[in-house]
Amino acid sequence: MKVISTIAELRKVLDEHRAAGKTIGLVPTMGALHNGHASLVERSVADNDITVVSIFVNPTQFNDKNDLRNYPRDLKADCALLDKVGADIAFAPEVEEMYPEPDTRVFSFAPLDEVMEGPFRPGHFNGVAQIVSKLFYAVEPHRAYFGEKDFQQLAIIREMVRQLSLSLEIVGCPIVREQDGLAMSSRNMLLTAEERERAVKISQTLFKSLEIAVNNSLAYTKAYVEDAMNSTEGFRLEYYQIVDGNTLQPIENWEDSSYIVGCIALFCGNIRLIDNIKYKEEK
Ligand code: PAJ
Repeated sequence: MKVISTIAELRKVLDEHRAAGKTIGLVPTMGALHNGHASLVERSVADNDITVVSIFVNPTQFNDKNDLRNYPRDLKADCALLDKVGADIAFAPEVEEMYPEPDTRVFSFAPLDEVMEGPFRPGHFNGVAQIVSKLFYAVEPHRAYFGEKDFQQLAIIREMVRQLSLSLEIVGCPIVREQDGLAMSSRNMLLTAEERERAVKISQTLFKSLEIAVNNSLAYTKAYVEDAMNSTEGFRLEYYQIVDGNTLQPIENWEDSSYIVGCIALFCGNIRLIDNIKYKEEK
């Protein structure tokens, strides 16, 4: 696997592949890679001739300086994992390479960015759009892979592609979980042993809510999850929203949509975790 740190070299290598008629898949990441990331890479390797994985802790999407400072980084371990799962290129630029000058672009994804993460992480999706659009321009992939773990991010990336009239395909990939059900996240390694044990309650509650939903109203199911989180010591719930899977707008009844997802964000100690669950699958 090649490790590349400049856009110029990346373009040169990819132009050669394109000239040879190869298809290119891109998996954008912030590193500290785990099996959730690996599942995206494996999917790209299966779908494309060449897979590029970007590793870049994007400062413009962090609304919390401590979160940016504490974000785990381990390029060596990341490259070892990527090598194992068959990635062809790791693109790991420095901040100056991606932002030679401040990115002043302002995106609007309303109403997709006005709900859930939106109010809690001001500017976050603008930063995500800045970096992901730059990566799309630099790599010009045929396909790009994103996890449903970041459900709102995936919807916003699809919207960005529409707004910018880009011609790549966005592929959404299912959430990969730890054995006990906790959604894999680079931030999980920042949890203390006690917090890690407690964190399993998130997915357990979401799974249990699937059963509750069968015989109960949406409001009751939502309140069940909220109560379970609020009554767990060490948790601070930011939101639990049950939304239409396409518009991301909250709905009030199970009959209101054929694609229904519950999205949660909470602090477990000082670490912010997100997860989601599908009550009705998109057909
Ligand atoms: P990061 O958090 O590193 O995630 C990179 C990709 O891996 C995202 O598409 C995310 O949804 C996916 N992913 C993370 N955990 C997963 C899991 N448990 N199961 C399945 N997929 C999972 O998301 C970002 O980075 C950044 O915002 C980025 C898009 C790279 C822009 O900076």
